[in-house]
Amino acid sequence: MANNFLKKIEAQINNSIILKDETIMAPYLIDWRGNFRGNAKAILMPTDTQMVSTIMQIADTENQTIVPQGGNTGLVGGGIPDQTGESVILSLKKMNSIIEFSPENRTIIAQSGCILQQIHELVEKQNLCLPLTLAAKGSCTIGGNLATNAGGLNVLRYGSMREQCLGLEVVLADGAIINQLEPLRKDNTGYDLKNLFIGSEGTLGIITASCLKLVSRPIVKSTSIAVIEKFEHSLKLLEMLQNYSGDQVDSFEIMPKTLLDIVYKQFPDISQPIKPYSGFILLMEISSSKSDNLEDNTLGKSFLQNIMECFLEQAYSDNLISNAVVAQNESQRQAFWAIRENAPQATKQESWPINTDISVRRDKLAQFYNFASIEVAKICNKSRICGYGHVGDGNLHFNVVEAEEGDPNWSDKRAKILEVIYDSLEKFSGSISAEHGIGQLKTNQLKNTKDPNHYHIMTKIKNSLDPKNLLNPGRIIN
Ligand code: FAD
Ligand code: LAC
Ligand code: ZN
Repeated sequence: MANNFLKKIEAQINNSIILKDETIMAPYLIDWRGNFRGNAKAILMPTDTQMVSTIMQIADTENQTIVPQGGNTGLVGGGIPDQTGESVILSLKKMNSIIEFSPENRTIIAQSGCILQQIHELVEKQNLCLPLTLAAKGSCTIGGNLATNAGGLNVLRYGSMREQCLGLEVVLADGAIINQLEPLRKDNTGYDLKNLFIGSEGTLGIITASCLKLVSRPIVKSTSIAVIEKFEHSLKLLEMLQNYSGDQVDSFEIMPKTLLDIVYKQFPDISQPIKPYSGFILLMEISSSKSDNLEDNTLGKSFLQNIMECFLEQAYSDNLISNAVVAQNESQRQAFWAIRENAPQATKQESWPINTDISVRRDKLAQFYNFASIEVAKICNKSRICGYGHVGDGNLHFNVVEAEEGDPNWSDKRAKILEVIYDSLEKFSGSISAEHGIGQLKTNQLKNTKDPNHYHIMTKIKNSLDPKNLLNPGRIIN
């Protein structure tokens, strides 16, 4: 059966789209964190939508399971096949053309294998911006961003990937193509299928192209780092900065001292803009697409820089922050961001961390943080709690790193620590995944925590779109 599938692909498309060499396949079979390893009989690299459709028609006839993959930066094992070696990976990497870029309409239609950063660079030339940004921007694909409804560092202002998308082209499990790429900003013609495919992690269809809307490129930015002693100060500061800036806050990220220590240890070349630090730091950025004429400005600073400084002065006099620094130029700004963007890599290098991707309503996030920290300390008071991330979205990577001196029982403690984190989350009615998705990591947890009626409808949708369970089986719904 398996060989029939590949033989038919060779006959009906050609064998140059099939990769079978073990060394070439290796990086497609392991995830970024090294937590998931799989096997596959081959990797297919189609170059257009018609090829994807033919592949799915053949898969349907031959009962071949297909695992879609983009840049393979996903963090829940969604794009890694299981270990049986029975699946075929369908990589969208070679489908990386721009179909249409319309600066007038402020839209771009792109094939799914386009790398996020390449889209950034292209649209910036026309003073436009695709707001989604995340540390994996140099290797993640637009298709993967859509399939996971990626969030990232600007959700507070612009929303997640769902909010950037006007339409999709999708190949279904039987090879049928849904084409909804017309750049319409308003379209109320029945059920909104695109929002079903966005965030479906390759389980309902293969996203082959998308139409994305663009915004004005931020030209003026002000970026600061402030030290806060208590997590709860962050929410008050966010409200203040929203008011001071007139809702121009792009990013509002938190990092505890424990995490900074690890980032600086793992990356000694990263500059330390604020010393000493304790408690937590906030990394805050406001921006505007309105340019600022410095010659007419008696203070010689951008208007956003003035806003940021006034806000920080107020925060200092209200005893909400103990120290702060504002980036004075683009290279300092990038140095601030280097600390944040290297956080996932630094914790990965430091030990085998416990990673989560939770969200709690914003006004309860500090309570959750304090509660969960106490619960984790009861199990292991030397483990390092590195709850960091998108505090402005109520989304934290509440991660826990092994004790600095090492812990011979770390593997045994991991399950118990995860359990108390998720028990704490349940008390605060939070979500087990704010942005990374379910993949193969959280299928049981999803089943146990989702409203049963909601879960039942999800299984009915899956069965109706993919009755043979050929598309990414065992992901999201198990
Ligand atoms: P892959 O990893 O290849 O695939 C992800 C899932 O989508 C899989 O289930 C796969 O089957 C499916 N899929 C991929 N392409 C398609 C397609 N065309 N059609 C249908 N299904 C498809 N995420 C955030 O939300 N916010 C962050 O801030 C963030 N930061 C990150 C930082 C780092 C260092 C890393 C490594 C990851 C980070 N992520 C973050 C995870 C995030 O999900 C991915 O980076 C990205 O969105 C996935 O894109 P990808 O092309 O790599 O997808
Ligand atoms: C981050 C990824 C892990 O925010 O989502 O760093
Ligand atoms: Zn994140």
